[in-house]
Amino acid sequence: MKTAEHRSSTSVLVIGSGGAGLRAAIELAERGVEVLVLSKRSRKDAHTVLAAGGINAALATMDREDTWQQHAADTLKESYRLADPRTVQIVAEGASEGIADLERYGMPFAREEDGRISQRFFGAHTYRRTAFAGDYTGLEIQRALVNRATQLQVPFLDRVYVTRILVKDGVAFGAYGFDLEDGSRYVIHADAVILATGGHTRLWRRTSSRRDENTGDSFRLALEAGGRIRDPELVQFHPSGLLEPEDAAGTLVSEAARGEGGILRNALGERFMAHYDPERMELSTRDRVALACYTEIQEGRGTANGGVLLDVSHLPRETIMRRLPRVYQILLELQLLDITTTPMEVAPTAHYSMGGVWVRPDDHGTGVEGLYAIGEAASGLHGANRLGGNSLIELLVFGRIVGQAAAEYSAGLGGQQRSAVALAEAAAEIDQTLGLNGRESVRLLQRAIRNLMTEHAGVVRDEPGLLAGLAKLQDIETRVADLGVHPDLAGFQDLAHVFDLKASLIAARATLEAALERRETRGCHNRADYPDLDPAHQVNLVWSGPGRLIYMEIGRASCRERV
Ligand code: FUM
Repeated sequence: MKTAEHRSSTSVLVIGSGGAGLRAAIELAERGVEVLVLSKRSRKDAHTVLAAGGINAALATMDREDTWQQHAADTLKESYRLADPRTVQIVAEGASEGIADLERYGMPFAREEDGRISQRFFGAHTYRRTAFAGDYTGLEIQRALVNRATQLQVPFLDRVYVTRILVKDGVAFGAYGFDLEDGSRYVIHADAVILATGGHTRLWRRTSSRRDENTGDSFRLALEAGGRIRDPELVQFHPSGLLEPEDAAGTLVSEAARGEGGILRNALGERFMAHYDPERMELSTRDRVALACYTEIQEGRGTANGGVLLDVSHLPRETIMRRLPRVYQILLELQLLDITTTPMEVAPTAHYSMGGVWVRPDDHGTGVEGLYAIGEAASGLHGANRLGGNSLIELLVFGRIVGQAAAEYSAGLGGQQRSAVALAEAAAEIDQTLGLNGRESVRLLQRAIRNLMTEHAGVVRDEPGLLAGLAKLQDIETRVADLGVHPDLAGFQDLAHVFDLKASLIAARATLEAALERRETRGCHNRADYPDLDPAHQVNLVWSGPGRLIYMEIGRASCRERV
């Protein structure tokens, strides 16, 4: 029986309905530009809902000395000089407008008694500049954006899995995918396509991402369309992920817990941050706190379960209930543990892809004409260490800018070439995948990737480990040929898992190859065999497929050296 195929067209197609995709779609709709949003999960449950502790802008509501220039300086410094300066400037300067947009959409920010937006400390910020809604900030942002998009009647196709960006001669003209429930196909023609499909942190065993999200989809879609990946090895491990239960390992305990005064101790009861950053203590940078936790555990001062203790029980109960309600609820639900009386056991968790699709700073074009990337899918703002709270503001600032850029690109297009061959190839890829009838299970191969990335590309890396990781990856790549795919009455999730797996294989290879090449320790990237910062590596590593890696000067789109 022939598979049903839906064909439609729009001016701008947004792939992904998290905060970045929604903000771009709102910008387009407010400008009267036709837009369609596709996503593999429901917009009410996009990954943004998990973002907890806050969103940064130098509003100076608490500390009058704060300025956007200071925000930019903190971001650049803590990126270990790998962030793109122009990208940093755009975000820091545009941040207050991003917050004003959210207020306009009805975001319920926490406020002081006189009505000022409250701002809390987050690690390594000079001033209090993290605005929040308890520790449900991402959830409230997502709700506000969904409400605004609904008011504007933005059309959504939730539960459509995009397998390809359609490209003709280096120009994007739409996307191809399938319906996760009935398997019917979608051909969407579009003048411009915005990728808002997240990062790749689900490649690690302990991660703050849930099943089937952040599987590296952006890497695959961009790469196959002709794009490139910048600094895939730069993955932020958040210091505080839960250890248990196993199926929720890595669930985030927000940095807000430390921002509100939480204390880290090892199993000997020592407040160990005194040995690593005596000035900033628990509010040191994420890379330092994560490495400190890792070191305590590795050197035998961790708990029996392999964690350290994060304690907020000395804080007033009222503060916990008002400022950390989610952490309180999560610990009760997952561990029956009351944080108002008992410390939590935590360990580093893969949290954020600081690398991602290479984009131009000003409009986030990918170099493939008509294709843009945004949010965690993109790269440039965070370098080797992201300041907590910077990613949420990035979504707001670049959502607006990229929406505008795509609108202008679409308006300026005199005509567009499409390709029947590209369409036929996209359809054939799904047909061929559905025909796979081997003995390997996709879930087991996904687990094998998580195991190898955890073992060989975690908080601390070295050359023998990375080479061993690449050898294991090659073995998994070979086993993919013997996969079995079994859609059933429940839907086509199994087919989606295969495409997730393909994406994860690409993201894992990019990460391992770049991690091997970055022979230095910088921010989140700790090389046990190269423990120092190397000025020769103050470059972006740009990956465009297996074995294809170049050094790119920061802030330039030019290649200095071929690896
Ligand atoms: O810990 C947190 O609340 C995370 C915030 C962030 O990653 O920006």
